[in-house]
Amino acid sequence: EKAGFDHFMLKEIHEQPKAYRDTMLGRISEDGRSVELPELKMTAEQLKGINRVHIVACGTALHAGLVGKNVIESLVRVPVETDVASEYRYRSPIITPDTLVIVVSQSGETADTLAALREAQRCGARVLAITNVVGSSVAREADDVIITLAGPEIAVASTKAYSSQLIAFFLFGLYWAQTVGTQDDSAAAQVLAAMQALPEQVEKILAQAETIKEVAESISHHSSLFFIGRGVDYAVAMEGSLKLKEISYIHSEAYAAGELKHGTLALIEEGTPVIALLTQEDLYEKMLSNIKETKARGAHVLGIVNEGHEQETAKSVDRLFAIPRTLPLLTPALSVVPLQLLSYYASLALGHDVDKPRNLAKSVTVE
Ligand code: M6R
Repeated sequence: EKAGFDHFMLKEIHEQPKAYRDTMLGRISEDGRSVELPELKMTAEQLKGINRVHIVACGTALHAGLVGKNVIESLVRVPVETDVASEYRYRSPIITPDTLVIVVSQSGETADTLAALREAQRCGARVLAITNVVGSSVAREADDVIITLAGPEIAVASTKAYSSQLIAFFLFGLYWAQTVGTQDDSAAAQVLAAMQALPEQVEKILAQAETIKEVAESISHHSSLFFIGRGVDYAVAMEGSLKLKEISYIHSEAYAAGELKHGTLALIEEGTPVIALLTQEDLYEKMLSNIKETKARGAHVLGIVNEGHEQETAKSVDRLFAIPRTLPLLTPALSVVPLQLLSYYASLALGHDVDKPRNLAKSVTVE
């Protein structure tokens, strides 16, 4: 059942190219210039009337939502807020009939996410669910559903479900943008071509797992580390940090790289590992200066960069991992993979139960 892999998590990490292909299958027009989501019941008119979005989810699904916020805001130019599902109902969110609430849930059974969905509907909003389980509570109750086709996810640590949620956000963001006209067909064709290249690019990353394994073994001796990034890299940093905590039990924090000097830098000591994501070209120079700030305090930095930037970055970091080039907005679908491998191999090095970490359940059905 593990198809030759030692753990479900590793199998599921390796299934991501297929999960991407399956989630895109039948949702891109034959000419490659537009997104097709026939499953959506909402009309073009309804979509055009939406003037705000709330993305609500828990844990890793929320981290996919943070990327989703960037995707929708940059492609559609509609303001998006993201909320932890267990907080959403209690802050009296401003939900109007023109609000689209997007709930994201692998299982479709997370109690807080389901409660948020019901609250949104009670306030008259339309709810779109992005979920991996057809027939789940969330899928049944939402007004619209985009199913991710990641296949069953067994490991408690979510990997292929997260990355397929990213694909769903890319598709939906583009679909919406084309509907309202913020992206024309040729711009969409460019994004869709880049999306279709992602599965092969993930395979390329997976083929370099050994490099990540070595880094994971060295960080497994540390009790605390940092993930830093800017823009969507910050969202991915949060996911990398959660994954590491969840299965290796090593404490880590994700920081927007520019925030470090407002307090956290005090925690960086000689040898503290820092995982720095530098995939956003427009923020690259800023990231380099943030990395310098950590190195000046003795940090040991792993830089995750786009191919082509290795030489330039090598001067500023201790170790490097390069990911294939894609559009800036799509990079999370690639950059998360080395971070998943990092947490997997760190957990393995420490002898933990990778697929069933302590204190956690796959699906959290209590509030
Ligand atoms: O099934 P859901 O996507 O609603 O689950 C949400 C979280 O409980 C889940 O993503 C959790 O954070 C994962 N174990 C993280 O790997």
